[in-house]
Parts: sequence; structure tokens; C-alpha cells
Amino acid sequence: MNIIYDTMFDSNTIDRFEKIATPFYFYDMDLLRRTVDQVHDLAQKHNLRVHYAVKANSNEKILREISAKGFGADCVSGNEVLHAHECGFPADRIVYAGVGKSDKEICNAMRLGIEAFNCESLQEIFVINEMAREYGMVANVSVRINPDIDAHTHKYVTTGLYENKFGISQHEFDKLIELIGKSRNINFIGLHFHIGSQITRVAEVFALECRRVNELVAYFERNGLEVKNINLGGGLGVDYDDPDGNPIPDFQTWFSTIDREIVRRPNQTVHVEPGRSIVAQCGTLISRVMFVKSGETKNFLIMDAGMNDLIRPALYGAYHRIENLSATMRPFFPSHQAYDIVGPVCESSDVWGAGRLLPLSVRGDLMAIRSTGAYGQVMASRYNMKDLAPAVYSDSIDDAPEKIDYFKML
Ligand code: LLP
Repeated sequence: MNIIYDTMFDSNTIDRFEKIATPFYFYDMDLLRRTVDQVHDLAQKHNLRVHYAVKANSNEKILREISAKGFGADCVSGNEVLHAHECGFPADRIVYAGVGKSDKEICNAMRLGIEAFNCESLQEIFVINEMAREYGMVANVSVRINPDIDAHTHKYVTTGLYENKFGISQHEFDKLIELIGKSRNINFIGLHFHIGSQITRVAEVFALECRRVNELVAYFERNGLEVKNINLGGGLGVDYDDPDGNPIPDFQTWFSTIDREIVRRPNQTVHVEPGRSIVAQCGTLISRVMFVKSGETKNFLIMDAGMNDLIRPALYGAYHRIENLSATMRPFFPSHQAYDIVGPVCESSDVWGAGRLLPLSVRGDLMAIRSTGAYGQVMASRYNMKDLAPAVYSDSIDDAPEKIDYFKML
């Protein structure tokens, strides 16, 4: 593994970070804007509609930035639907997926008049139809299909295989078509797919998805259903190894693959639901080394951020690049050492990275855990009764909470 001596953060920013209480999530709003602009332009070029997957990061400031660009929202809970709407996404551009929508969640979304429920079971379609009938409404419904495609990604974020709980599988298609036919209070608008997340074999996997989708759309149309919307879900992977080399993921390959492979009639719209790829690289979890401990066989850097702040390493064994920002400010390159970088939580899985080669690190050093804008803050918890790490935005950094140095006060 390479020794990490560099960072893209400039000395002014690092100086500014030194005065802020850690841990905190730092968001580079300029990178977010550049990413959103690029997605917007490429989507127009390839005639795709974008629904941002709110689950990746639901911070109000970030949602407002994205909704201002005219994107729709993909939500997976009633609260996400309401929050997205409050943050500027028009109701008729909000779609709502998820295998387990409660009656209350369905009711609120229906009253709001969302674009579509992406339904994941026959029973759900039945319940939505019954509820819509009770309210004297007609609800737009898209059906999520399990296409049985391997996304070649981590098994916890693979969603399109028959072994996964998502979508409706082929053996129920006859019953599905019959149910849609007789449900008077739903309006069938299309098909929805999402095969997984952090997909890095972009051209290959998404081409496979499109070909399968073409077959399925044709099947449903042959059976008398008009498929107006084809929603291909999200899943574009980001470069966790080299966030500075690849700050904006490869939307060009993703969108052009879809444009080339998907068969669409003039009245059909094709939708995508990127989450991670829009927000991951603009976020960094900033933490401090609290203690340096020499173990029997290794050295530990004990940080003030833990698995409660970012669960991805503990849950998926995910890799995040870690930089010692303070060391990059020291006048000479110090020697380096292998560290197990760990958090403070009382769990052995609370490890940021094992055997990472870093410049010699000392108590108080600022550390950057990179590519944490997606599935970071949203998955944080208060385990061990830790406080939640706040968000600090590059364009309003002066609002950040100030660090209190108890150590110096002693
Ligand atoms: N659409 C649906 C229906 C989804 O379930 C998801 C993500 C997306 C879109 C957005 O996928 P993305 O573009 O972000 O890959 N917590 C995991 C990722 C879970 C993804 C869940 N579904 C992680 O930290 O890797």
C-alpha cells in the first residue's frame, strides 16, 4: 500500500479545520455543483430523467442544491418523501420505492400526489388500490421488477437477484397483470428496476440490465400494459481509491450505455436514480487523533470519529482513503509508520483501516476520511450515546462549531 503524504485540501482550509470541533462532515459545495451540472447536461444530451436517491444524503442544503437543478427525487420512506418535498422537489417528481411501505406512509404520499409508487409486491399494489379507493383517488403505480441480474458488487448492496427481497419476480407476472387489470384506483405507468450499488463494471453491467429491461418491457406490452416510464434505478460506482483523480464519476459511460442499449418508443421516458455518484466525493469526515497507542504487535491511532459516525467500514468492510492533514502542513516529510486507525466505539469492528501507512502521527492531528458524502451522515447513529457529527459546508464554513481545547485548559 502506498504511503499517503498528500491531500487536496489547501493550507487555508486545513488552518480553518484546526479551529473546528471534530468530528464533522465537510461538504465541498463547489464539487457538488460541478457534479450536478454535469449530470444535468449529460442527462439532457441522452434524454434521461434524473431522480436523485435521497437515501444517499438527505441534508437540506444538499437537497436544495439538487432540486434547484430540476431533478426529481427517489425516496424510500414516508419521511423522505415529505422531506424531499419540503426541500424543493415538486410532488409530481417524487417516486417512492421500498418493500415495506406502512399504511401511514402510503396515505401521506398519496395525499401529496407523488409521481409514482414503485411497488414491490402484489399485496402492496392491492393495498394501494384499496386506500386510493377509500380516498376517491387514483394513484400512479410503477412496478419494480426483480430482473435477476448480477451487479458484481458487494453482496449487501446487490438488489436485483432472485435471492434478494426486492421487486416482483417472473413467476408472479401473470397474477400481476391480472391484478393491475382489475384495480380501478391505480394507474399503471411503468416499470422500475434497481440492480445494486457501487457498480464499477459500468458498461458491462448496465448494458446487461438494459437488454433484460428491453425484454421485460416488451413482455408487459405484449400483455396489454402500456409502459410509459422505464426507471433503471441507480448504482453508478465511485472511485474510493482515488477521489482526487476521479472526483466526478463516469456518468458519460453510464448514460451513453443506456442511450445505446435501451429500446424506447417516442412516448416513453427513461429514468435513472443516482445517489452515491452525486454526493459521495463531495463529503469528507474530518476527525482528530485522540491517542496514539503502541499495541503488542501494532500501533493504533485512536480517532474521535467512530463507526457511529460512518458505519460503512464496519458493515461492508468498505475502504475509505485516509489522509493526515496536519502532517501535510509540517515543514519536512516525516518518516512513516503502519497504523491500525480505529474509532472510540466499544466494538472490535470499529476500524477505519488496518495497517495503513501514514506519516508519523501525533495526538491532535487532523485526519480526513474521504468519499463519505454518500451513506455517511444518513447512516450515523448515537450508539454509545455519542453525539451526531454535524455538517460543515465549504460555502458557510464560518458557521461551524468551534473547538474547545480542554487539554490546554488543564
Ligand atoms: N434506487 C433504489 C431503488 C435504491 O435502492 C438505491 C440504493 C438507489 C436508487 C441509489 O443507488 P446508488 O446510486 O446510490 O448506488 N448503504 C450502502 C448503499 C445502499 C444502497 C441502497 N439503495 C453503502 O453504503 O454502500
